[in-house]
Amino acid sequence: MNKKIKKIVNKKNKSKIICLTAYSKNIALILDKYCDLILVGDSLGSVLYNYKSTKEVTLETMINHSKSVRYGVKKSLMVVDMPYNTYRNPNLALKNAKMIMKKTKCDAIKLEGGKKIIPIINNLIKNNIPVMGHLGILPQTEKKFTFKGKKIHEINKILKDAKLLEDSGIFAVVLECVESNLARKITKTLKIPTIGIGSSVNCDGQVLVIDDLIGLGESKFRFVKKYGNTNQLIKTAVKKYKFEVLKKQFPKAKHSFKTR
Ligand code: KIV
Repeated sequence: MNKKIKKIVNKKNKSKIICLTAYSKNIALILDKYCDLILVGDSLGSVLYNYKSTKEVTLETMINHSKSVRYGVKKSLMVVDMPYNTYRNPNLALKNAKMIMKKTKCDAIKLEGGKKIIPIINNLIKNNIPVMGHLGILPQTEKKFTFKGKKIHEINKILKDAKLLEDSGIFAVVLECVESNLARKITKTLKIPTIGIGSSVNCDGQVLVIDDLIGLGESKFRFVKKYGNTNQLIKTAVKKYKFEVLKKQFPKAKHSFKTR
């Protein structure tokens, strides 16, 4: 097992695992100091490209953003989401995962789903590609974006999927919008870490979309906490720039070039 992955797995029951998304170098450079894991999430589809669903995100887009993120990640584990339709069967998944690993130099990839994708995960792990799972709300295929774990059949299915994923050899699993008690049960049952988003404090770690955390954009999800107001910071800076350009206070001589 890769050293960075081992470090994350070993945090279970000792220390919370800190994860955030990044889609570009400058953000990754900042996050790398504080995160255990940086995810190039296909959430970039809605966050950056205004897509209605992550289904529209292509492999090329994920690879390009991941290459940028790679320049900023030195110590954290870098995980890249495999986009929708790129892991329809074991052979296609292996071909695309190899391409992602080779072109982005990431440490691992993430796939959404449970029992259905076990043969795909088996093929990836057999070929030495580390895999992170994703259960609960599955944005790539979800019909109903409500939290998971209300009904007994849903609870049993997610628990069973979590166990199957662990047995297949994944090193961690994201739980997206999983009811608190179910998240606790999964976290207690599994030996691998659970990383929650909207799944309560009962998970081994937490992940958020960085744009939501810094208050860039208008995300209103219940599970988001805004830790900063980047919108306001940008507005203030741009307003000042506009004022200084209009008043001819910028650029000054020190920002300009002169031969004589
Ligand atoms: O795409 C993404 O950013 C994710 C996280 C929200 C877990 O999958």
